Amino acid sequence: MEGFILALDQGTTSCRALVFNRKGEIVSSAQKEFTQYFPQSGWVEHDAEEIWAVQSGMASEALARAGIRPHEIKAIGITNQRETVVVWDKNTGKPVSRAIVWQDKRTADFCTRLKKAGHQEWVREKTGLVLDAYFSGTKVNWILDKVPGARQKAEAGDLLLGTIDSWLIWKMTGGGLHITDTTNACRTLLFNIHTLDWDPELLELFAVPASMLPRVRGSSEVYGHTDSGFLKEGIPISGIAGDQQAALFGQMCTQRGMVKNTYGTGCFMLMNIGDSPIVSKNNLLTSVGWTLGQQTTYVLEGSIFIAGAVVQWLRDSLKIIDGSAEVEALASTVTDTDGVYFVPAFAGLGAPHWNQEARGSIFGLTRGSTDAHIARAALESIAYQTMDVLKAMTADSGIPISELRVDGGATVNDLLMQFQSDVLDTTTVRPKIVETTVMGAAFLAGLAVGYWDGLEEIEKLWQVDRRFTPTKKRAKIAEGIRGWYRAIGALEHWAKD
Ligand code: G3P
Repeated sequence: MEGFILALDQGTTSCRALVFNRKGEIVSSAQKEFTQYFPQSGWVEHDAEEIWAVQSGMASEALARAGIRPHEIKAIGITNQRETVVVWDKNTGKPVSRAIVWQDKRTADFCTRLKKAGHQEWVREKTGLVLDAYFSGTKVNWILDKVPGARQKAEAGDLLLGTIDSWLIWKMTGGGLHITDTTNACRTLLFNIHTLDWDPELLELFAVPASMLPRVRGSSEVYGHTDSGFLKEGIPISGIAGDQQAALFGQMCTQRGMVKNTYGTGCFMLMNIGDSPIVSKNNLLTSVGWTLGQQTTYVLEGSIFIAGAVVQWLRDSLKIIDGSAEVEALASTVTDTDGVYFVPAFAGLGAPHWNQEARGSIFGLTRGSTDAHIARAALESIAYQTMDVLKAMTADSGIPISELRVDGGATVNDLLMQFQSDVLDTTTVRPKIVETTVMGAAFLAGLAVGYWDGLEEIEKLWQVDRRFTPTKKRAKIAEGIRGWYRAIGALEHWAKD
């Protein structure tokens, strides 16, 4: 099939649009940041109308840059920041408030109350999630309770809710389609990952009327056609996946046991666990990876709050480097950290430790310690945290992993990638195209319209840039790992007081 696939990546801080050809090459792209609102401490909001304006603007710019006409686009795939939720009036099309972003903590107390009332276990069993402000359910509850008139309107059937995928599709189809896919639905706390449907008991717990919910569809099927703005021409919309799941698909982790780790501000690690969900005993989340046809693939997910952000801290706060790219050179001026450990728990510790009270700490300083040792320890902390999550994943799934596929900004850092491979004692694989999130969305959309023949064809498009294999110095690596656990133990002890 001739033509192109347009993939939209609506992220937490920017909207991107990329055009792919059949070889999986990026033909054109456009990206723009949008406004972040922080109205109170711990609150994070987005303007859904602005997101739509910026996102559609980027789509049209990406096409214009390559001189591509809309009718040459054979399908559109969407990937998006997950959990962030919008409530809008289906008659006027206007959001009733700003979207509440996944990072927003305003419903933390509500979550604590639900936990104290004993709801954690059954909610976890049904959703694969924990009762945390991170997910959409308590955010919708907040909007309905706090925005004047919202609950009455919702009960009268006038309001709709959706994660960002739903909102964009509703706009792209001129209000014609109100849908989401399983990968986004499963991050709301309202969706049962076993029945793959909205769950009446969960809707009751979060007091969300069923009439507000989008219809849940698979991740790769023709949902409908565009009917709005420059997309008036009726292009098939045929792929949806939350961004972390899209990256897993873009990394072609299509077999049980395959794992990807995205190194961004934090790290998101996902493992394909096949066609039945495993509820974690090690504080990981269970989610839908994708639904292709009648087949749903599940994942275990672990999130690390601070990864690339520790390098930003070295640059902006400690000021020992001028640019993030300099960290590798500085860290390479020493052969090891000389016993220095950096636990970057600036926002507490995420999976698998989940310690909200922990704070960033540096251990093992001597008179001989330098900025280079600290920079190296900061980089190593990213790899050690990844190791902790991966150990929890292997314990939960019982699947030993044969390689870790990596993507995200920090993967250009060879020193980090080599160290990652060393501490995991596993090969770390960096693909040629690290735009795996948007590629995943493009693949899902293209498969649905027959742009690509099937998984076999797209698997060939995923190519290795470099494999990092573990060094032989196992005793030294083991000593480093022991030191990391001592640092984590000491920090957890400190956080208790
Ligand atoms: O769960 C949140 C995640 O989907 C956000 O990803 O890449 O937009 O920060 P990103």
